[in-house]
Amino acid sequence: MKTLLPVIAICPRGLEQVVANELVSLSHHIKPQLKKGGVFFIASATDVCMLNLWARTPTRFLIQLIRTQVKSARELFNCSKKINWKEWFLPKRTIKVDVNGRGFPKDVSLRYASLVVKDAICDSFRDDCGTRPSIDTNSPDIRVWVNFDNNLVTISIDSTGQPLYKRGWRADDFIAPLKENLAASLIKLTGWDKKAPIIDPMCGSGTFIIEAAGIAANLPANFILSKKRAFAYQLFANSSPFSDVDIGEILMDAEKAWKTPTDNSFTFPTFLGFDVLKDNVVTAKKNAAIALPSYVADKIFWDVKPLYSLTRPNFDSGLILTNPPYGKRMGSLTLTKELMVNLSSILKTKFTGWTFWLLTPEKNIVSKIKLRASEKIIVKNGDIDCFWVRFNIFEGSKFRKGKKDANIGQSKSS
Ligand SMILES: C[S@@+](CC[C@H](N)C(=O)[O-])C[C@H]1O[C@@H](n2cnc3c(N)ncnc32)[C@H](O)[C@@H]1O
Repeated sequence: MKTLLPVIAICPRGLEQVVANELVSLSHHIKPQLKKGGVFFIASATDVCMLNLWARTPTRFLIQLIRTQVKSARELFNCSKKINWKEWFLPKRTIKVDVNGRGFPKDVSLRYASLVVKDAICDSFRDDCGTRPSIDTNSPDIRVWVNFDNNLVTISIDSTGQPLYKRGWRADDFIAPLKENLAASLIKLTGWDKKAPIIDPMCGSGTFIIEAAGIAANLPANFILSKKRAFAYQLFANSSPFSDVDIGEILMDAEKAWKTPTDNSFTFPTFLGFDVLKDNVVTAKKNAAIALPSYVADKIFWDVKPLYSLTRPNFDSGLILTNPPYGKRMGSLTLTKELMVNLSSILKTKFTGWTFWLLTPEKNIVSKIKLRASEKIIVKNGDIDCFWVRFNIFEGSKFRKGKKDANIGQSKSS
């Protein structure tokens, strides 16, 4: 019988339900429990390997090794040393211990907790094997995560390694890209039926369009045929529960999905990505060519186009998704406000029947869209609270009048 493991799928705050839904859709027997910034579930090592390859919305999958109360650095050391580390990896591997959470014991700081757990791991190897792993804070083979929640400590081993939003398709360094798993989660939050056309009128490096195309084509999110990525579980010891996973079979399924156009390839949605800068459109196109099989990438239409010349394609309805520049990393706030006023009038006059979704951290930008927001969801983009706001554009929809910021009301999480 296969060992069942306690697993947590880490994700941006506010997106836990989206992640839970995706996990269940990929593996029907999963019973997810929502936590802050993660989804807990029990699964086999085979499931974890499959999910690492297919899941679009989580950041990483951690295997919980211990979860207990600790009131001091000594207790933290003792509980860390109790873990049978050599079952999981060999001392020749490099390690890094990351700590997060809140409510640390009195004599433990975040930095000190990392040292204590690292010492416990090294002592445990020295006792058992006479040698210890070395530390690599930049590119470790094995990552250990320590989470505190008011004296309740959870120590986990990372099965993913490089976070899942680094899918491996970014060709160039683009200044302000959305993280791939955030973009995918936002698309899922729209309730998109995988058929309606999608436009990103300020597509930058193309993240929304590329993720949406991957979703429509039912592709494994973290698999690129020409550039297979490595996962941390591949460096686990032969004694770990991952040793009897048939990774070849899991990879074969992913490869098959990549090579085989799905049934809906004939009714594949229309995807349009525009940007005012030619370089960005070139980058987006290059990214799509790496991220997607050619039979999918070739169906995307990219063009250099300023927002003011956006026209409606020949569809009664569809989605417009975008995250405009907002002045911190790109552009200026004043310019973006003007852009949004412009966009409001284009939406109102040309896009009746469509739905517009805007991602921004700035309430000021939302208030420039002179349409009534029908849904406002707060999501974390890194450390920044952002609004994912929905506007339905219907016949006779009035320009919203009223106070500045009036259309940011009660926030609703997914
Ligand atoms: C924050 S970035 C979008 C990032 C994108 N979501 C990604 O993941 O790469 C905003 C984009 O808006 C584009 N932009 C700014 N002003 C524009 C305009 N007037 N018309 C069209 N695109 C514009 C910028 O060139 C930039 O690529």
